[in-house]
Amino acid sequence: MKKTALASLLLLALVACSQSEQTTQPAPAENKVAEQPATQPNPAAETPAVEPAPAPVAETPAVEPAPAPVAETAPVATATDCSFDLKGTDAMTFTDVAGKPVPEIVVPASCQDLTINFEHTGKMPKTAMGHNVVIAKAADVRAVATNGIKAGVQGDYLQAGDPKVVAASKMVGGGEKTSLKVPVEKIKEGGYDFFCSFPGHEIKMHGKLTVK
Ligand code: CO
Repeated sequence: MKKTALASLLLLALVACSQSEQTTQPAPAENKVAEQPATQPNPAAETPAVEPAPAPVAETPAVEPAPAPVAETAPVATATDCSFDLKGTDAMTFTDVAGKPVPEIVVPASCQDLTINFEHTGKMPKTAMGHNVVIAKAADVRAVATNGIKAGVQGDYLQAGDPKVVAASKMVGGGEKTSLKVPVEKIKEGGYDFFCSFPGHEIKMHGKLTVK
């Protein structure tokens, strides 16, 4: 009886010990439970934060390329009735009648000649701000302008009989008008420009002349 009583006491003690061990174990178990809810909200919070971000990024580059081609095609001027009214200013620029830049003049292929009616709308004399309209291959523009410097303003800043010049007006000052006729047959192949041969002006006063 005593041995069984001792054994039962030992068992009780073992149970007590195991129970006390079990009561200490829940502590780390609670830590694990506390950690899990902490990690769970994080991925949940990250996912919605990432999803809305790509949407506006995808929309922005789609809008940006659209205005670019519109800006490139807008300034092209087409000759009507085989003529074009070109203006020159004291600010060393070519403009159309509305005062807008003229980076390109398009001539209908049906025209025999293109007539360019040119007016210097400024006030400066041609010795200081002279303008003319010269037609030459784009690759020859710099050479024509450089060779024309020796001719001076009296020679319209063009070398006499320069074979690279397809057509040219005289040089005018503020308030003066002039015109020139360009044979469309001679510029059909493409690659021709119009420019002012006054020293230094061809850098700013320079556009394409295209037959379409
Ligand atoms: Co000029």
